[in-house]
Amino acid sequence: MNQLPTADTPAVYERVRAYTENRKQRVFIMTFGCQQNEADSEKLLGMALEMGYSQTDDPAEASLILVNTCAIREHAEQKALSKIGSFKKHKKEHPDCILGVVGCMTAQAHRTEQLKRCYPYVDFTLTPSRIHLLPSAVLAVLEGGRRYFLPDSGDPLECPDVRELPVVHKESFRAWVSIMYGCNNFCSYCIVPYVRLRERSRSAHEIENEVRTLVENGCHDITLLGQNVNSYHGDCRFPELLERLDRIEGDFLLRFMTSHPKDADPDLIRVMREGKHIAPHLHLPLQSGSDRILAKMNRHYDLNRYMDTVTRFRADLPDAALTTDIIVGFPGETEEDFEATLAVLKRVEYDMVYAFLYSPRKGTPAAEMQEQIDEKVKHERFDRLLALQDEISAKKAKAYEKCTLRVLADGQKAGSANTLTGRTDTNKLVHFKGDASLIGSFINVRIDRAEAFVLYGTIV
Ligand code: SAH
Ligand code: SF4
Ligand code: F3S
Repeated sequence: MNQLPTADTPAVYERVRAYTENRKQRVFIMTFGCQQNEADSEKLLGMALEMGYSQTDDPAEASLILVNTCAIREHAEQKALSKIGSFKKHKKEHPDCILGVVGCMTAQAHRTEQLKRCYPYVDFTLTPSRIHLLPSAVLAVLEGGRRYFLPDSGDPLECPDVRELPVVHKESFRAWVSIMYGCNNFCSYCIVPYVRLRERSRSAHEIENEVRTLVENGCHDITLLGQNVNSYHGDCRFPELLERLDRIEGDFLLRFMTSHPKDADPDLIRVMREGKHIAPHLHLPLQSGSDRILAKMNRHYDLNRYMDTVTRFRADLPDAALTTDIIVGFPGETEEDFEATLAVLKRVEYDMVYAFLYSPRKGTPAAEMQEQIDEKVKHERFDRLLALQDEISAKKAKAYEKCTLRVLADGQKAGSANTLTGRTDTNKLVHFKGDASLIGSFINVRIDRAEAFVLYGTIV
């Protein structure tokens, strides 16, 4: 059943095309998880189109279904498993349809075992570092009629090559661009280094070419992606990469995420201040306001160091947005530790906080720690944190009232055809009346009313 990779050579694509040619074969891709997965799905789509599939939004008419999974928290895995289960009926009615499960969940040996044993209608799995083998996996099923599970190498030091893959962006006006893959930080709670393996950076030259091509094709909003963009080490460091991309001519905004506080340096803030195209927004995950917990998390910074960066950022870019991630209920978190986190929220006044209930991940050090926090306590702290941040976000949003802001219109509000949605340069969500033909362009919107998470405005 196990099959070592052949190669994603043109010959493999060719052999798959022998099956798809003139047969109206369609691919449906469902994506869970973070922007890295969104970006990977755009590559999966790129490869599928090269194999002769066309895209569909309806799984019922698909002959290739790909579920791109996330493993960051238990809830994410359960959602993906339940989605996979929902395709059982379709597979029974359409035995020729190929169901592949890809992404972070499949890089854990115990999940691959589970998929093999309990989900017999799953035809193959591919880990995030091996998505380039999609054609080989599809071919193994098509030609050999066998299931394809790459053995987990089990090597936490594995550093796969960086490969350039065909990519099809979902939207023409907005795109993700991966600048690096993997993570070396091993925060004690986090599964990412185990499933996405060691950090590796794309060459600055390749990134520059991709961004230039996007801008030339009318893309206005480009997000550079990496688990820790500040440790980018292609042919230059991250601030220099940003400077190089900022010099590209055109009407576009450059966003980036995520910045690890241990590596975000003054140079980054200088480049953000001087850049023409760089979004005035920094996502700087704090995780906890307690030095004791930060040490147990293996984050390699303390609150003083974190606050130095915040102070410099605020001094240099006073109108920019600052957002963060917080984990509530990390093992051993006392009421006092939790209050230290609340105190930082009050002191920094983030524009937005993404809070998560700590979820033990098999194989990570934190999952083995004593003093796991009771679920009830976790939820109670979580609710207190959200209530505090709602107040702060509402207050921060108020400052936008009466201002006229540049907004990139990005869609229609669900259930309201004449209301458009858009994002400010600081990544705030805006609702305003407008025609769908405006989607994909920058427009100036005056903000009439501000709520914590939505600004309501009028086109000027
Ligand atoms: N590389 C990014 C984050 C990737 S994961 C960074 O270092 O900031 C996104 C967020 O998920 C993390 O910032 C963290 O807040 C949260 N997270 C990661 N592992 C988690 C876990 N086991 N339980 C709960 N939240 C977790
Ligand atoms: Fe996970 Fe830490 Fe790496 Fe972020 S930096 S992906 S939280 S290990
Ligand atoms: Fe999830 Fe993998 Fe992203 S675990 S958060 S999809 S890196």
